[in-house]
Amino acid sequence: MKKILFIAGARPNFMKISALTRAASLYRDKVQIGIIHTGQHYDDGLSEVFFREFKMPRPLANLGIGSGGRKEQIGKALKLLSAYMRTMRPDLIVVVGDVNSTLAGALAGASENIPVAHVEAGLRSFNWKMPEEANRVMTDHLSDLLFVTEESAINNLKAEGISEEKIFFTGNVMIDTLLHFGSLADKSDVLIKNSLTPKNYALLTLHRTENVSDGKCLEELLFAMNEIHKSIPIICPLHPRTEKALKDFNLTANFNILGPQSYLDFMSLQKNAEFVLTDSGGIQEEATIFNVPCITLREETERPITCELGTNEVVGRDREKIFEAVGRVLNGEWKKREGEIRGWDGNAGERTMNIIVKLLSC
Ligand code: UD1
Repeated sequence: MKKILFIAGARPNFMKISALTRAASLYRDKVQIGIIHTGQHYDDGLSEVFFREFKMPRPLANLGIGSGGRKEQIGKALKLLSAYMRTMRPDLIVVVGDVNSTLAGALAGASENIPVAHVEAGLRSFNWKMPEEANRVMTDHLSDLLFVTEESAINNLKAEGISEEKIFFTGNVMIDTLLHFGSLADKSDVLIKNSLTPKNYALLTLHRTENVSDGKCLEELLFAMNEIHKSIPIICPLHPRTEKALKDFNLTANFNILGPQSYLDFMSLQKNAEFVLTDSGGIQEEATIFNVPCITLREETERPITCELGTNEVVGRDREKIFEAVGRVLNGEWKKREGEIRGWDGNAGERTMNIIVKLLSC
């Protein structure tokens, strides 16, 4: 029996690990799986709630690294994960996405000489100011198996000299989770609780360091959001980082603020929104599948397929550009998704685990 350890740490990891552990359960006669939670996200609303909703296996351990900045998070997680790997000796470590815990997992694997698989490999924003971009690049170069969600990722990895033999196009595991739990989200009462009617509000998420850690930038974005709210209600589940930034910079949001939402409630809010305003990576992909217009409040995206075939447009942070984009949505001039996206079909986890199990059995 081969042992696989999945490393999870922050909110966007849990949707991906959920799909992979569901798929791994099909191979329970061949592989034994476990989850290690680094504890990067520790609030119930950013972590525990997802284990409950997805009915995921409980983590074998929570390393409790907590917050404290990038260097501290990566350093603590690397030390504790390495110690865990030395005792556990898994046959493979699986890391997902681009958070600090992802990189720490890949570093621990490399330092303990344990093969690493990276799921959602090869995405590039080419913006080195984003901690996530550095995490993506370093994780990919430390990994032995790279599972990609879109064509651009293959080109990026090849351009960086990564051998084609390590790269597998298996699709998007986050979309597996969306399709798996989609009908449950329809039962959520989040719209009623917040007095919202479908297609009559905009959903906003904002948490990227480059958007919220700079007071001028956050002020500009907030001005734009407060103006848009006069035409259509904006609802915003607030990330703790943004909540703190609003206080620190003494800025006021006139739109509706909620705490972090559970997955099913957030899916319901997203699916029923007239449009989404976001700086998140995953939401650009989810909005594309829901066929909901997505205005990305960043200067670039590492997920170009969402712009080429999906409902996403990278609009930036300039208020006039944001108003122009919102105007087009409200006039019904926004694009729809162009057909299906390869590999975003609900079976990416199975394809990924199939390859992993085959390679581990050799
Ligand atoms: C991290 C990821 C980002 C991901 C995001 C989703 C990195 C580099 N970034 O950013 O890619 O999109 O998660 O949420 O890993 N905090 C709480 N409660 C928690 C967790 C965090 O209050 O449960 C606070 C921290 O104290 C800190 C802030 O939120 O002040 C930021 O947390 P951190 O883990 O540094 O990264 P995120 O901004 O959440």
